[in-house]
Amino acid sequence: MILADIRFCAKTDLERILKVERTSPHPWSERVITRDLVIGDTGLSYIGAFAPAAQDKLLGYAVLGDEKGNGLLMNLVVLPEHQRCGFGTQLVVAAAECASDMGFFSLVLRVRVSNVAALTLYRNLGFKADATRESFYSDGDVAQYMSAKLPLTIKIE
Ligand SMILES: CC(C)(COP(=O)(O)OP(=O)(O)OC[C@H]1O[C@@H](n2cnc3c(N)ncnc32)[C@H](O)[C@@H]1OP(=O)(O)O)[C@@H](O)C(=O)NCCC(=O)NCCS
Repeated sequence: MILADIRFCAKTDLERILKVERTSPHPWSERVITRDLVIGDTGLSYIGAFAPAAQDKLLGYAVLGDEKGNGLLMNLVVLPEHQRCGFGTQLVVAAAECASDMGFFSLVLRVRVSNVAALTLYRNLGFKADATRESFYSDGDVAQYMSAKLPLTIKIE
């Protein structure tokens, strides 16, 4: 497995993040991302996975916030041509470490029940399925709530 260089994103990474986000099946609006990164008043952390040999090449990123005293994984996207290489996993592990460093004891997230790739990734990392919520998304899709205790315990096979 290739290890990405993982670091917090800065304003200067905005265009790189937008490029990755545009590949998502349900992309966040550019206005929201621009506000998070450029104005920076939302308190969210953007964590980027950069290609080890090309620091300006963003492979994927995760967004970490907080909700009711838990770390909240709000977004996770990897460029389609770099999927299934472990970068999504590396980003979730990094987000969990950040959440732990921030003093959170658990990391929660919501994922579409139709999103097999993400559900499998989270399950592999030890996230438990909690409640589901009907029509959580604007297109009517159902959300699966998931959570993991921090620090993550990762089994290496
Ligand atoms: C979900 C996503 C971030 C996964 O990123 P990734 O870098 O491909 O993930 P990894 O390579 O770390 O995959 C880890 C494991 O998850 C599972 N997985 C990942 N993609 C999968 C797929 N398309 N189908 C089935 N299982 C999949 C596999 O078990 C995989 O391990 P393996 O490759 O050894 O079999 C990526 O598919 C993506 O960007 N999707 C679009 C955005 C999105 O849906 N984000 C989730 C929001 S909640």
